[in-house]
Amino acid sequence: MRRKQKSYPSNERNSIAKHQTNGSQRRNFLKKSGLVIGASMLGNAVFANPKSTDTSSKKEGKIANFIDKQRVLGSGAHSLKVSALGLGCMSMTSKSYNPVRDKSDMVKVIRGAVERGVTFFDTAEVYGPFSNEEYVGEALKPLRDQVVIASKFGFSFDNGRRAGRDARPASIRKAVEGMLQRLQTDRIDLLYLHRVDPQVPIEDVAGTVKDLIQEGKALHFGLSEASPDNIRKAHDVQPVTALQNEYSLVQRVHEHAAIKVCEELGIGFVPWCPVVRGFLADRFNEYTRFSEDSRFSSVPYLTPEAIKNNMALLNLVSDWSAKMGITPVQFSLGWLLAQKPFIVPIPGTTRIHHLEEDLGSADVKFTEEELSAFRAQMEKIELIGVRDADSAFRDS
Ligand SMILES: NC(=O)c1ccc[n+]([C@@H]2O[C@H](COP(=O)([O-])OP(=O)(O)OC[C@H]3O[C@@H](n4cnc5c(N)ncnc54)[C@H](OP(=O)(O)O)[C@@H]3O)[C@@H](O)[C@H]2O)c1
Repeated sequence: MRRKQKSYPSNERNSIAKHQTNGSQRRNFLKKSGLVIGASMLGNAVFANPKSTDTSSKKEGKIANFIDKQRVLGSGAHSLKVSALGLGCMSMTSKSYNPVRDKSDMVKVIRGAVERGVTFFDTAEVYGPFSNEEYVGEALKPLRDQVVIASKFGFSFDNGRRAGRDARPASIRKAVEGMLQRLQTDRIDLLYLHRVDPQVPIEDVAGTVKDLIQEGKALHFGLSEASPDNIRKAHDVQPVTALQNEYSLVQRVHEHAAIKVCEELGIGFVPWCPVVRGFLADRFNEYTRFSEDSRFSSVPYLTPEAIKNNMALLNLVSDWSAKMGITPVQFSLGWLLAQKPFIVPIPGTTRIHHLEEDLGSADVKFTEEELSAFRAQMEKIELIGVRDADSAFRDS
């Protein structure tokens, strides 16, 4: 099957890429859930009142479907109920993805997500830095008791720019005070260490978070990209509710260790970059060039050579999704959800119609035979720019 690229407004295409081939019209697949058709018909008026429950999309029954879909991260007293997919808010303020979005527009997107059943929102001190938490805080203040807010600490800053890792206890406490202010809340539902600081024993980090939990400033503890050894050490001090690692059809390195450790210890797994920064939404091709200031320019699986090679995987996904009557993004997120019941992807988007497409993945069903047949075909494709198996056992 021949793939077609999605089309985007020309100013955005330029901000992401210096050159791209002309994207043709958005793929015209039948939407299994009908969500995308519903979304394109929704005007901004629908989002003006975040408390409104009487939207046309809800009447169609599809959004209500997603509202019913919840998952549990972590176990026992440390468990956290969240929507089956969360919303990654990073790209709202990251120049790598698009120009920094207007705050009032993003407040509408975040509140629109709540209306559609999303209860799990992901941000971090380093996104912006700082401004992302302000967007999330403003959007969710009136809805605070209905949602789970996750944020991350672990970096130092110099002149408003990220300067290095810093997870010393005093720095964690300072970071959390700033987060609470920017998020306009009295507690962070899920407080992650963003990256392991090699200068600070992980037990000290877990101990500091344990104290913050006892003080009520944080409710649950999370880690991101920590090695299996460090996950175990931290979990012994303060049970970990969720591990947030990169996981997608392209980047599957954590199947070697982290996901197994989570299953063993009863820790939830939150895949970041689940649509591969838009690659699985058909946004890039071998002629795509990222500007030098974009972090994408240093992503090994997004070099022109890698994209050209890795298109084989996108073609496979496109074939399968066409047969299933869904979109490649819905296939990609649905596949992640099908791997384990404790997996909760957090696709990032700044557009409500993309969010609705993403949420449609919660309706995708795979049989065991389909999962094994797809995996067998996928594993024949040698990807370029993905992490090697050894790296699954180290902090990153
Ligand atoms: N723990 C960590 O170290 C870490 C690292 C990176 C990210 N994260 C978290 O994970 C979240 C998700 O990762 P990510 O944002 O880097 O990558 P991602 O979710 O794989 O991709 C985001 C990109 O995909 C596009 N997209 C999403 N749905 C789409 C759809 N249906 N059709 C077309 N395009 C679509 C978005 O563009 P539009 O805005 O145009 O929809 C955006 O540019 C982040 O927001 C952040 O919260 C965590």
